[in-house]
Amino acid sequence: MAKTKIAFFCKECGFESNKWLGKCPACNQWDTFAEAPRAAKKVSKGVGVSSSFTNNEPLELSKVSMTENERLKTGMREFDRVLGGGIVKGSLVLVGGDPGIGKSTLLLQICKLLTDQEVKVLYISGEESLHQIKMRAERIGKFKGELLLYSETNLDIIEEAIHKVKPAVLIIDSIQTMFKEDVSAAPGSVSQVRESTAVFLKFAKTFGISTFIVGHVTKEGMVAGPRVLEHMVDTVLYFEGDSGAAYRMLRGVKNRFGSTNEIGVFEMRQNGLAEVKNPSEYMLQGKPKGQSGSVVCCSMEGTRPILIETQALICRTNFNMPRRTSAGTDYNRVNLLMAVMEKRLGISMAECDAYVNVAGGMKVTEPALDLAIIAAVLSSYRNLVIDDGMIIFGEVGLTGEVRAVSMAEQRVLEAEKMGYETCIMPAVNCKSMKTSHMKLIGITNIKEIINYIK
Ligand code: TYD
Ligand code: MG
Repeated sequence: MAKTKIAFFCKECGFESNKWLGKCPACNQWDTFAEAPRAAKKVSKGVGVSSSFTNNEPLELSKVSMTENERLKTGMREFDRVLGGGIVKGSLVLVGGDPGIGKSTLLLQICKLLTDQEVKVLYISGEESLHQIKMRAERIGKFKGELLLYSETNLDIIEEAIHKVKPAVLIIDSIQTMFKEDVSAAPGSVSQVRESTAVFLKFAKTFGISTFIVGHVTKEGMVAGPRVLEHMVDTVLYFEGDSGAAYRMLRGVKNRFGSTNEIGVFEMRQNGLAEVKNPSEYMLQGKPKGQSGSVVCCSMEGTRPILIETQALICRTNFNMPRRTSAGTDYNRVNLLMAVMEKRLGISMAECDAYVNVAGGMKVTEPALDLAIIAAVLSSYRNLVIDDGMIIFGEVGLTGEVRAVSMAEQRVLEAEKMGYETCIMPAVNCKSMKTSHMKLIGITNIKEIINYIK
C-alpha cells in the first residue's frame, strides 16, 4: 500500500522540505515549518497559465496574436487607476490588508458599481453570513443590479457554483477560509491556501473570470500563508491605513498589467468608502496658521505628490535623558537629523525633548522629508514661524548638504496647484526647473535655511 507522503512547508515563504527544520534555509525564519500532506500534487496538475494559453510549442514573438487588453472600468477612479486602468479580463488579484481595514467594504462597493453596469458578479464569502453582507450592502447604498451572493467555504461546492453561474467577476472573501476536502490540512494552512489559489487561478485563466481574492495580513505585514500566493497572482494590492485615521490607501505592490507606483486614497465614512480626489487638501485639513514648528512638505506616494504637514515640538526636558519621539516618520532618521543640526548649525538640543509628527496619520519614510523636519525643529526651537505660503523639501546628508530628490517638478506643481507661493528645495533640482509661477529658492546647505525662518 502506498504511504501518503508527508512534506513540511515554511509558513513564511512556502519552502518545501522532506523533514522538519527549525530554521528555514530559504528565508532564515525560525520555527516556521508546518506539516502538510503532499497528496495535493495531482490536483494542481495542468493548473496555470501554460495549459490554457499556449499550444505547447515555442512560438515566435511576432506570431503571437495580440489580443486587446479588455479592461472593465468600475467607475471608481481611484480603484481603476491602481489596477492600471480597470479590471483586466481573466486577471487574478490579491487584496491584502489588516482585519477591519475595509477590504470587504471596498469589494462590495466594487460589486455594486459593476452590477449597476449589468456585469455578472459572484461574491463568495467564507467569513460572513448572507444576512451580514446584506446589512453592509444596506449601508453602502441601493444596488440597482443583481449581485449573486454565496456563503460557502468548501471548494468543491464553490467550483460547481462557478461552473453554473459563469460570472464575469468573482470575489473570494477570504482565501484563508477556503478548504479543499482532499487536502487534510486546516483552512488557512499553507497547503490549503496554495491549493485554493490554484483552483481560482485555473478558473480565471480558462474562463476569463476576473477574480479578486481577499487575503489576511499577519503581524509582520505579509499576507498570511505562504509568499507563494503572491507569486501565483497577477496583481497584489495592499489596503492600508491608520486605525485611528479615516483615510485608507490602496497600494499596488505587484501588477502584471500596469505600474506599481499608483495609489488610491479613500476615506471611510458612515456609508462606505469615499474616494479622496485631492489628497493634499485632505491631509492639510486643520493645519494651524502662524504657528511655530509647523511646515508643509511635499511627499511622493508612488507617482502621486501629496502635501503633508510636518510638526515639531522642542521643549526643555525634565529628565536626565531627553526624550525623542517621532510619529509618522522614522525615529532613527529624526535622531540623525538632529545630530546633523547640532554639529552643523551649532545649536545644542541636549537639554531638549523633541517630538516630531507627520500630521494626518500618514507614514512618510522618504528622504525628501529631511529638510522639512529640520525646518520644523529649527522653527520650534527658535520659536519662529515659517511662512504659511511656503513648502520645503529636500534630502539632507551628514555634512549638512542638501541633496537632490526625485520628481521635484511634480512636487512643485502640486504645491502651486494648492496655492503655495514659495518653495525651498535642493539647488540641484532648482536649476533644472523650467516653468513655475512660484518663487523657487534652491539651497545647498542647511545653514542657508536659517535665512528663511524669521
Ligand atoms: P470591513 O470591510 O469589514 O473590513 P475587512 O473586510 O478588511 O476586515 O470593514 C469593517 C470596518 O469598516 C468596520 O470597523 C466598520 C467600518 N465601516 C464604516 O465605517 N462604514 C461603512 O459604511 C462600513 C460598511 C464599514
Ligand atoms: Mg472582511
